[in-house]
Amino acid sequence: MNGRARARHADAGPDDRSEGEPWWREAVVYEVYVKSFADGDGDGLGDLDGATARLDHLVSLGVDALWLTPCFPSPDRDGGYDVADYFRVADVYGGDPALERLIEAAHSRGIRILLDLVPNHCSTEHAWFRAALREPPGGTHRRRFLFRDGRGPNGDEPPNNWRSTFGGPAWTRVREADGTQGQWYLHLFDPGQADFDWRNPEVPAYFERVLRHWFGRGVDGFRVDVAHGLLKAPGLPDYDPELDLATPMTNQPDVHDVYRAWRALADGYLPGRELAFVAEAWAPTAADAAAYVRAGELHQAFYFDLVMRPWDAAQVRGSVQTGLEALGTVREEVLGENGELAWTLENHDVFRSVTRYGLLERTGPVPSEPHAAAVRPRGVADVELGRARARAAALFLLALPGPVYLYQGEELGLPEVLDLPDDRRQDPIARRGDGSDLGRDGCRVPLPWSADAPTFGFSPPDAHAEPWLPQPASFAALAADAQSDDPRSTLTLYRQALALRRERIVGAPRTVEWLDVAVRDDVVAYRRGDLVMATNFGAEPFVLPPSWGAVLLRSDGAEGRVLAGSSAVWLEAP
Ligand code: NOJ
Repeated sequence: MNGRARARHADAGPDDRSEGEPWWREAVVYEVYVKSFADGDGDGLGDLDGATARLDHLVSLGVDALWLTPCFPSPDRDGGYDVADYFRVADVYGGDPALERLIEAAHSRGIRILLDLVPNHCSTEHAWFRAALREPPGGTHRRRFLFRDGRGPNGDEPPNNWRSTFGGPAWTRVREADGTQGQWYLHLFDPGQADFDWRNPEVPAYFERVLRHWFGRGVDGFRVDVAHGLLKAPGLPDYDPELDLATPMTNQPDVHDVYRAWRALADGYLPGRELAFVAEAWAPTAADAAAYVRAGELHQAFYFDLVMRPWDAAQVRGSVQTGLEALGTVREEVLGENGELAWTLENHDVFRSVTRYGLLERTGPVPSEPHAAAVRPRGVADVELGRARARAAALFLLALPGPVYLYQGEELGLPEVLDLPDDRRQDPIARRGDGSDLGRDGCRVPLPWSADAPTFGFSPPDAHAEPWLPQPASFAALAADAQSDDPRSTLTLYRQALALRRERIVGAPRTVEWLDVAVRDDVVAYRRGDLVMATNFGAEPFVLPPSWGAVLLRSDGAEGRVLAGSSAVWLEAP
């Protein structure tokens, strides 16, 4: 199994070509939500120098790459996903020099850096949109966005029935330069995020410049925001809300032309750089998600189905199987080298897995949107139980073929912070919605680094501002320094799992063979190469069969061959 395993971290520079597979195929990528990771300058907001100062945590964790959430100038109506200038790092995050320092420090430790590209929309403060507002309908800048006349008498009705993901119509009417009520512009998200018209060739040309700009500064790739949304159905027709994700707003066939062009750009950029893209593509089926990683398209696309699944043996196994099959189909259908579906349990848009898996019963208002109800379920959660399950789920995922994305704080077992004061919530989902969806602030609370320091070490001790979201007192016990030397902590488990993955799993045969667990339909086990993974989704203990080999790592840190409920194990098969 070790034959194709890559060099250990310290030896692997970002420009080193490892033998065999490219680095991204089985990479562990760690999402740095920059605003909440580490505050270097004491203003209560995380920044890039703060991240550089905490790189050793990521080295000891053993990750291959970081994905940095948007750190560009932005009015911050949606956590920086409303970009006002694509060619500069915002001063509040340290400006371009801070990114240069981070890239250099990360590369010298063998860690790659992915930026977050937001091509579906820009801030309404972006120079193009400001110019568009000054122009009459049909002007050069307007045609870079989706401006349309309204329907009904005087054009008072939005041009179609599309809804914003954040609630309300997806259209906002502008006042024309002469003061009259004018056209409407499309925004699939906040009104401060205007959708580009990707059928206007000036838009793809602009983003190719953006890519080249950052590749030229040493960036190793991009996470592509709303990758499924760039192209809309021609004519922007009304949609049937019953169809859910399969709408005219997303997953259009010609969006793939964009990614074929980007792949060619990345491949041809500089030999040896191994630049990579990961698509944030919410797709109606696994096959639709896998379509983004066909040969000649993107390197990775997130597999989000698992994020929507509860702690249930059949659902988790079924979801993984569906993802693997979808990828298998892609491999068979298209000649050439396909990309990967990226496994993930958490990100900055969904409830933390500790809380999601700890959900005992659903109570309170149900978010009206089915997607929100799945990824941000309201109810009573048992956090200890949820943490045990989340630890097990991590072992389930980390032995699968393909890349895995971790979200900052997942390695600390942080729960969702559910009791943030309403007046401190920043997320437009919480601000614009009807209150049924708490939004995404609870997974974005600044990280706890030191149990005993003010702000748990998120900001320096002499900081002049509070953290931008309040941290709960319960974060003390979960701080990185409180867990670092504890052999049973979640941090220790993640370190051990990533080290073992690197040594024994990366490069193993890709085939996942589900193992027979006889009468226990709440236990799921698979074999990959000579590693066996078993997870007990139930409450009854399960005795591990001798044929599965010797125990390598257990999510509950216990000894012996009895696998307790809500735990997982890796074994070395004979
Ligand atoms: C997906 C991002 O992850 C999310 O945080 C953001 O609100 C939307 N895209 C819009 O950019």
